[in-house]
Order: sequence, then C-alpha cells, then structure tokens
Amino acid sequence: MSPNTVRVGVVGCGNISGIYLQAGQTFENLESVAGADLIGERAQERAAEYGVPRACTTDELLADPEIDIVVNLTTPDAHGEVGLLAIEAGKSVHNEKPLALTRDEGRQLLEAASARGVRVGCAPDTFLGGGLQTCRKLIDDGAIGEPVGATAFMLCPGHESWHPSPAFYYQLGGGPMFDMGPYYLTALISMLGPVKRVTGSARITFPERTITSQPLYGTVVEVETPTHVAGILEFASGAVGTILTSFDVQASALPPIEIYGSEGTLAVPDPNIFGGPVRVRRSPAADWEEIPLTHGYTENSRGIGVADMAYALRSGRAHRANGELAYHVLDVMQAFLDSSLEGRHIELSSTCSRPAPLPVELRHGTLDA
Ligand SMILES: NC(=O)c1ccc[n+]([C@@H]2O[C@H](COP(=O)([O-])OP(=O)(O)OC[C@H]3O[C@@H](n4cnc5c(N)ncnc54)[C@H](O)[C@@H]3O)[C@@H](O)[C@H]2O)c1
Repeated sequence: MSPNTVRVGVVGCGNISGIYLQAGQTFENLESVAGADLIGERAQERAAEYGVPRACTTDELLADPEIDIVVNLTTPDAHGEVGLLAIEAGKSVHNEKPLALTRDEGRQLLEAASARGVRVGCAPDTFLGGGLQTCRKLIDDGAIGEPVGATAFMLCPGHESWHPSPAFYYQLGGGPMFDMGPYYLTALISMLGPVKRVTGSARITFPERTITSQPLYGTVVEVETPTHVAGILEFASGAVGTILTSFDVQASALPPIEIYGSEGTLAVPDPNIFGGPVRVRRSPAADWEEIPLTHGYTENSRGIGVADMAYALRSGRAHRANGELAYHVLDVMQAFLDSSLEGRHIELSSTCSRPAPLPVELRHGTLDA
C-alpha cells in the first residue's frame, strides 16, 4: 500500500453501495476497509461480496482511527445525522446526494467540518466523468461562444417499479428534484458557474404510489413532496437555464441537457452517467458533430469524488465534489419549491466556485497529473 492510500469506511450498505465498495479497485489511493448499516446483515453481505475486511456497526466504524473518509450512503433522511457523527468523530465525509434534507442541516455540516478541520464532499461525482469534463472543456475553450442559456430535462414515471425500498423517493428529501436534480444542477454549475436567482412551480400529481417491485409489492406509499418540478435558473454569468424534473411522466423524448451559446449548441450527455456522446452544432453547420472525449473515466466511476477528496487530503488542494457546491445545489433545489409556494422569484443566499477541471491525459486510476 502506498503512503498516499486513504482508508474509507462506508455507512449504508444498500442498493448503491457496491460501486463505492469497489472504488478501491479503480483508484489506487483508496482502500475500503469497513462497511456498516443499521441492518447488520446488509453490511455483512456487502463486505463479503466485495472483499471488504470488516462489517461492523456505525459506532465501531466511526471509532476506527485508521479510517479517514466516511462515505455516507444512507437514505436522505440520515445524510445530515450520519454526516455530523462522522465529522464529530474527526473524519472527512462524502455524502450521497442530496447533501442534507434542509438548508439548516446542510449548513450545520459545513460549519461543523470547518470547525473540526475536516472535509465535506457530496455526490454526484458524474461531472468528473469523461463526458461532462469534455463538455466543460468545450465551453471553457469557447467552442460554442458565450453561453446564453441551457435546458435540463429528467422525466420518468418514478422508481417504485424497480427499487427494492422506494419509499424515500416520495418523502422529504426525495421527489425528482432532490433525487435527480443534483446530477443536472451540478453538471450545469460545473459548466456555467453559480446561480443567483430562481423561480419554480411544482405539484404532486399522484398522492399515493403503489410499489410493484419486490419485496414490498403492493405496499402503498404516501407522497409527501412535489413529484413534478419546473424551474428557471438565472446564472451569475447572465445565462438563463430551464429545468424540468418529474416522476409523473410516462414517456419523453427530450434531451438531458443542452447548452446554447452565441455561436453554437452543445448537446450534453445524461449527467447520471460518466461517458458520452458529446455533440456540438456550430453556426452555420448543417449538422451535429460528435466530439471525441478528451477525458477518461467514461465507465461507471462512482467514487471518483471520494478519490479526488483523498488526493486533496494528502496534498492540501481543494476537492472538486465539495460541500460548498453541494450546499449551493441544495439551496437551488429548495428555492424552486419555496418559489412555487410563495409565488415569487427567490434570490439565492449561497454561491460557489466552479470546481477545477480535471487535467487531460491522466493515468487511469489517478486524478492528479
Ligand atoms: N440506488 C441508486 O441507484 C442510487 C444512485 C445514486 C445515488 N443514490 C443515493 O444513495 C443513497 C442510498 O440509496 P440506496 O438506493 O442505496 O438506498 P437503500 O435504501 O438501498 O440503502 C440505504 C441503506 O442505508 C441504511 N441506513 C439508513 N439509515 C441509516 C443510519 N442512520 N445508519 C446506518 N445505516 C443506515 C439502510 O439500512 C439501507 O441499507 C440515497 O441518498 C440515494 O439518493 C442511489
């Protein structure tokens, strides 16, 4: 093991945990050493499946002096609580999205981490994938001129047909905006910078959802949060974005993200994945041009944000999927819902810097040139 290796413990060994537990196989500076879950057997099963040395309780994991980063893959209702426990134990923490359920909870995490001298990171980290990094470079290089506007669409019928315990998607901290919005907003902010003002309209279309996946087939879930959310974003740069997220749509053919520039349009790949395709159509070209990806990590590389934090801890540099960015995303998402309730534009009180782009031509498994 190299002196740069950072040991990671995973709290929340559910559906998404596998790819994180494997991250040590992709990134040479990470080693997954423990997994914990409220349901002890889950931690044991996952640890055995992914060759993680130890399954334990959250308290035991937090007391382990060898662990530097806690990866918090609990359901959104526990992101704040578990994140804070990790920080209080002197660990840096990388939460799954959203950062927290509320602005207060999110702020508490950032303040506690700053007081304790540890880092807060947050998913998504797909913006560090080859597809979105290529888009970022195209924008920074002026390939479409000055960004004028953007659209982002995530429309689907919801998750109760496939997820084994989908209730959280319909509770506070869920809904299509808090669940999927972070992918789209983080991608947009990474490309276009912070947002200064938003307006939104939201509704609950179906007040109850019936689970059709196993093992909870037939269970009825009450819907507590809007499931169709439309928003307008005014970026500090002057660009104007439109976002629509929904769990109430049976079918859609809209593109995930497009960025409109003064000289052309950039068709951005699905921000929930790491690869392409990336396409540009510059005026007066008659057709779209597919752009070869300039960056690696085009396969499912969830955990890249944790690896980036691990490099940052060792070198002292900033980490990219950071708490300031995730808090700004949380603020934007909450502001759409506030705007819908209050019937007015919401000026954001938070902002963030654009995370540094990744260098091109990185050796696979590393993140610093
Ligand atoms: N499933 C996906 O495809 C997916 C993709 C990306 C991100 N995410 C995000 O990852 C997170 C987890 O999602 P999931 O699908 O794995 O959910 P899940 O319900 O399958 O797993 C969550 C696990 O966390 C455990 N848990 C809950 N509270 C806890 C606590 N206080 N302490 C310890 N363990 C606790 C639960 O017992 C459960 O095993 C969510 O924030 C979700 O938005 C999920």
